[in-house]
Amino acid sequence: MKKSRSSKTKTARARVAKKSGGADRKLKIGLIGFGTVGRSVAKILAQDSSGPLLLTHIFNRSIKKKKIGSLSSHIRWTENIDDVLSSDVDVVVELIGGLEPAGEWVRKALRAGKSVVTANKLLISEQGPELLDLARKMGKRLEFGASVAGGIPAIIGIQEGLAGDRLYKIAGILNGTCNFILTKMEKDGTSFDAALKEAQSLGYAEANPSADVDGMDARAKLLILIQAGLRLRVRSEQIPCRSISSVAAVDFMYAAGLDCTIRQISVAQKQTNKGVRLAAAVQPALIPSASLMAHAQGSQNIVTATGEFGGKMIFSGYGAGGDPTAVAVISDLYAIVRSSGAPVEALPGAAEVPDSVSGDFTVPHYLRFVVRDRPGIVASIAAILSKYEISLDALLQKPGFPHSALPFVMTLEACDSAVLDRALAEIARLDFHVEPPLCLPIFLD
Ligand SMILES: NC(=O)c1ccc[n+]([C@@H]2O[C@H](COP(=O)([O-])OP(=O)(O)OC[C@H]3O[C@@H](n4cnc5c(N)ncnc54)[C@H](OP(=O)(O)O)[C@@H]3O)[C@@H](O)[C@H]2O)c1
Repeated sequence: MKKSRSSKTKTARARVAKKSGGADRKLKIGLIGFGTVGRSVAKILAQDSSGPLLLTHIFNRSIKKKKIGSLSSHIRWTENIDDVLSSDVDVVVELIGGLEPAGEWVRKALRAGKSVVTANKLLISEQGPELLDLARKMGKRLEFGASVAGGIPAIIGIQEGLAGDRLYKIAGILNGTCNFILTKMEKDGTSFDAALKEAQSLGYAEANPSADVDGMDARAKLLILIQAGLRLRVRSEQIPCRSISSVAAVDFMYAAGLDCTIRQISVAQKQTNKGVRLAAAVQPALIPSASLMAHAQGSQNIVTATGEFGGKMIFSGYGAGGDPTAVAVISDLYAIVRSSGAPVEALPGAAEVPDSVSGDFTVPHYLRFVVRDRPGIVASIAAILSKYEISLDALLQKPGFPHSALPFVMTLEACDSAVLDRALAEIARLDFHVEPPLCLPIFLD
C-alpha cells in the first residue's frame, strides 16, 4: 500500500527520535572557544531558541572573564575541557583555533561519540583526511564549512551542490587581508607598507602579517578546497606561495594599462591525462579588471569551481568576521540535524594522492624591472628570454621616473612558469637592477 505524505514524515521523525532518544529532543551543543566566532555562534543560537539546536556548554580558559549574562541560565560555563567531552552533548563546536590542543580535543570528542563542527582551517588543512576517517570509524560527522571563506557556503556548495560534477579547477581570493591591502593600493595609489599599516590599524591584519601577506593562510584554505573539490590529498609544503609584499603602486598603473588589476590568487588545477597531476599556487597575479575576482572589494572572498559538465560556478561574499563565520558553523549544525548525525561517505578522506604536484602554470606573464638606466638593458633581457624560447609580447614604460631607478614592464606570451623562473634567475644576476625583478602570472580566465 502507498504511504501518505504525513505518515512518511512521521516515520522519518520517529527514526530521528529513535536515534536521538526522543521526538522533541534537541541537538545538544558544547562550544569550545568563546572568542570572536564563538560569541557570534552563541548569540545566533540564543535568538533561535525554538529551533532544534540547544547550546548547553561553553568552554574557554579564564571563563569568569568571558561569561555574559544575556545567554540562557541553563548553559554550563567551564574552563575544564572534560566537562564538555564527558557530557551528553551531541556535537562539539571547536572554535579555539590552532593545531593543538584543538586537534587533541577534536579527536577526543569524536572518540567519545560526538560529532564535531570546526572553523579551524589550520587543523583541517593539516589533518582533515585523518579526522574524517576517525569520524567515519566512529559513525559521527565532522563538518568544517566555516574553515574556508568564512560565511560563504563554498565547502557545502562544492561537496554537496556540485557532487554530481567532476571538478578540475578551483580558484579564488581566499584571504581578506591581502584583498583589503591590494584594493587599497589600487584605489588610493598607496604603497604596500602604507596599506598594510592601515589594515593593521583597522584590525584587518595581525601585528605579524606574514601568514596573510606571504600566502600561508590562503594556502591552508586552498588545501581544504583541493581535498573537498578536486578530491586530492596534498601537503601544504607542496604548494608554493609568493608574497604580495613585492607588489608596488606602480604595478597597478601598468596593470591598468593592460585592462587588468592585481590580486592574491589561489589556484589549483587537476589534469588526468598521463596520471593525476596537480598545479597549485598562491601568489599575486594580474587578472582582467572586468572579471568577477577583480570586483571582490576589501575583505570579501570569492571561490570559483570549474567542472567538466557544469562549467564555472562562483561563490562570493564576506569571508571573515564573527557573524558571517557563525552562519557557516550553524549551517553545519543544521546539516547534522538533517542527517540525524549519520556519517557522510565519499567526503575528502577518500581523496587520492596525485602523481605529481607543482606550482607551474603555462600562462602569459608580467615582468617589472627597476633599473639604473643605460643603453642595451632591454636587449640583454630579451637575449636571455630568447635563449629559453620565451616570447616577448609588449614593452611598457611610463614617463616621469628618474634614470637612477627607472621602472619598465615586459609582458610575455604564455610560457611555463618553471622555465621562466630559470630565465629570471639569470636575468636577476645582470648588474643594472635597483631591486629584484617582479614576475606575476596573468590569469585571463
Ligand atoms: N574570526 C574570523 O573571521 C574567522 C573566520 C573564519 C574562520 N575562523 C576560525 O575560527 C576559529 C576561531 O577564530 P576566532 O576569530 O573566534 O578566534 P579568537 O577570537 O581568538 O577566539 C578563540 C577563543 O578560544 C580561546 N582559546 C584559545 N586557545 C585556548 C586554549 N588552549 N584553552 C582554552 N581556551 C582557548 C581564546 O581564549 P582567550 O581569549 O583567553 O585567548 C578565545 O576566547 C579559528 O580556527 C579561526 O581560524 C575565524
